[in-house]
Amino acid sequence: MMELSQKDFERLYQHIQRNYGIDLSKKRQLIMSRLSNTLQAKGYSAFEPFVDDIIAGKDKDMITVMLNKLTTNYTYFMREESHYEFLQDTVMPEIAKRHERDHVISIWSAACSSGEEPYNISMYLLEYFSKLPGVWDTRILASDISQNILATAMNPEYPPESLEKLPTGWQKKYFIKKPNGNFTVTEALKKNVIFRPFNLMDPIKWKIPFDLIFCRNVMIYFDQPTKDALVNRFYNVTVPGGYLFIGHSEGITKSTCPYQFIKPAIYQRKA
Ligand SMILES: C[S@@+](CC[C@H](N)C(=O)[O-])C[C@H]1O[C@@H](n2cnc3c(N)ncnc32)[C@H](O)[C@@H]1O
Repeated sequence: MMELSQKDFERLYQHIQRNYGIDLSKKRQLIMSRLSNTLQAKGYSAFEPFVDDIIAGKDKDMITVMLNKLTTNYTYFMREESHYEFLQDTVMPEIAKRHERDHVISIWSAACSSGEEPYNISMYLLEYFSKLPGVWDTRILASDISQNILATAMNPEYPPESLEKLPTGWQKKYFIKKPNGNFTVTEALKKNVIFRPFNLMDPIKWKIPFDLIFCRNVMIYFDQPTKDALVNRFYNVTVPGGYLFIGHSEGITKSTCPYQFIKPAIYQRKA
């Protein structure tokens, strides 16, 4: 394993924190163990020139590879199931009422990983809105910092056991079995999700405010000021009456949070 000096460690974690919000200040060992092989494969013989290149922004792909190694893309269908219940029973009826004229709804899965979360939301939307009169635009914006994981999400392949928690009948309705036994999503579901790369540290450029933002299990990597600033940026692009869903293990500071707390991991921008 390559040795990472205290000086290079500090340069690296401070750069990552500033630019990507991810707090690795206590992860020196993790960085050494997860990055040593990749660095060697890329031709680096030590951490120092690698840290120089990262800070100079020389190799954007390398930054993504590094972040993929240091964070997790772990996700699954029906994760934090109570969110889907609230979506079905409370949020979608409210959205349907809000958009009874334009029929265009706006939902963002802000750290979508390999696609389970946006496809899962999309299934709920299609179930609900296909039963209402008229044609509804139910497309979801799904973003992630990692280009690699977005490529996987756009051409997904899920093992059969990962679909087991979905409601009965949805496997048949929304998935297609591949010759190798894994499942991909139907064209209709694929079309309903638009994938885009986006770093949550950047200003939010989408102009249309969101009825609902899912930002789950990514803020755990962020320090408190980064989290608070992000929650404020989300607030500015949430419609009055719209919601923010976060991961159940992620706290946001009550005193500075502009949203109203509704129930654990669910916040609302007051109408
Ligand atoms: C654990 S997954 C969460 C997936 C899904 N939201 C869920 O709850 O199951 C975390 C995702 O956050 C992404 N991520 C990490 N830092 C990010 C950043 N600064 N901007 C955007 N996405 C980021 C990672 O690439 C990863 O795919």
